[in-house]
Amino acid sequence: MEFHIEPGGRLTGQIRVPGDKSISHRALLLGAIAEGRTTVTGFLESEDCLATLAAVRALGARVEREGECWQIEGTGASSLTAPEASLDLGNSGTSMRLLVGVLAGQSFASHVTGDASLCRRPMDRVIEPLTQMGAAIQSDEGCAPLTVHGQRPLTAIDYTPPVASAQIKSCVLLAGLFADGRTTVREVGVSRDHTERMLSSFGVPVTRFEAGVSIIGGSPLYGTDVVVPTDLSSAAFFLVGAAIAPDSALWLSEVGINPTRRGVLDCLARMGAVIEYHNERELAGEPVADLHIRGGDLSAIDIGAVDVALAIDELPALCVAAACARGTTQITGAAELRVKESDRIAVVAGGLAALGVDVTIQSDGMTITGTDAADAFAGGRIATHGDHRIAMAFAMAALRASAPIVIDDCAPVATSFPGFETLAAEAGLAIARQ
Ligand code: S3P
Repeated sequence: MEFHIEPGGRLTGQIRVPGDKSISHRALLLGAIAEGRTTVTGFLESEDCLATLAAVRALGARVEREGECWQIEGTGASSLTAPEASLDLGNSGTSMRLLVGVLAGQSFASHVTGDASLCRRPMDRVIEPLTQMGAAIQSDEGCAPLTVHGQRPLTAIDYTPPVASAQIKSCVLLAGLFADGRTTVREVGVSRDHTERMLSSFGVPVTRFEAGVSIIGGSPLYGTDVVVPTDLSSAAFFLVGAAIAPDSALWLSEVGINPTRRGVLDCLARMGAVIEYHNERELAGEPVADLHIRGGDLSAIDIGAVDVALAIDELPALCVAAACARGTTQITGAAELRVKESDRIAVVAGGLAALGVDVTIQSDGMTITGTDAADAFAGGRIATHGDHRIAMAFAMAALRASAPIVIDDCAPVATSFPGFETLAAEAGLAIARQ
């Protein structure tokens, strides 16, 4: 099925996007190896998180929905049992990279796989440190399917990943829980710190220092209450839509504004969007706020490696904003985009070009010539390449298009944002599934 979006309109009213994907994955994984009950409120019931849920259940964890909450009955770090079948993690890189950290510390072997996109993404970045720790992992030339032969205890390491990546950092820290001493991860750039924050909430002493973090293996985890903020990465499509559509004024409730992830807010503000933060508070160790955004006259900015690290999943949406910003936006230091759910440099540039935008690509970025004209985009058809964030980013482009936009496949949206089009329609996007 496709999304058909009529051109024009504006975004108004108040919406609440679904729960944070990164935090939902982590709540399941930590709850499954904790002692006692973990209650998760606001869990994201998207395909990616349901893949993690199915995996932890297959490993013996007891996880049930009770009303609006999910309850995990943990029985401790040694309680997982060998899965009977291969663990299929679908499209979810976070599920796979974090889970193999846990599997590396088990005294059994497991087989993990995923869809065609996930089986193309690099896993050597987690195989390398886990092998140093003593696990034996077979792969298909550095990609899934993987067979993980766990080892207990693992050997603690002091590791510097080759790229800034929360998935690598989290994988090594999770394996570090099963290691015999202090495991340290040193970062070459900022990456989201949800794992560190959540480990602390589960009672694990976490030592954070400039550009690094360490934990001591064997520290017990105690079940706790996790309240999941709404996902800034999902909010980003609406933030961009409101920023580019004249006369928009949109409220977004209880959005996660973790400083290691809030690059999209800072980039949009630098471009000229007016964003207000209301009712700033903490939810289970994560900062949140109610956001109010109004569209403005946007101007081009330079988006460099630091911005990219802080907005790694929001770049497709920011590129749509860049096409509506007067001047030339230059994005650099974004080579990691090439190994996401799709090659997001090539696929975003292909989408912009299909809508008549002047864009050139480089190995680690792109140059986008934007306009303040009312019709920043022609109508056209967008190839999503199975990537949820491409579908949603380009749906918003219709707000500034001269003719309808068709998104060739709406199914990928379910990986992170079930109900996207209902919420988008409520806010003012003329979107239909056909
Ligand atoms: C994620 C980390 C990011 C991000 C992904 C979710 C996480 O990947 O792109 O969607 O939950 O840890 P990297 O940190 O590996 O770039």
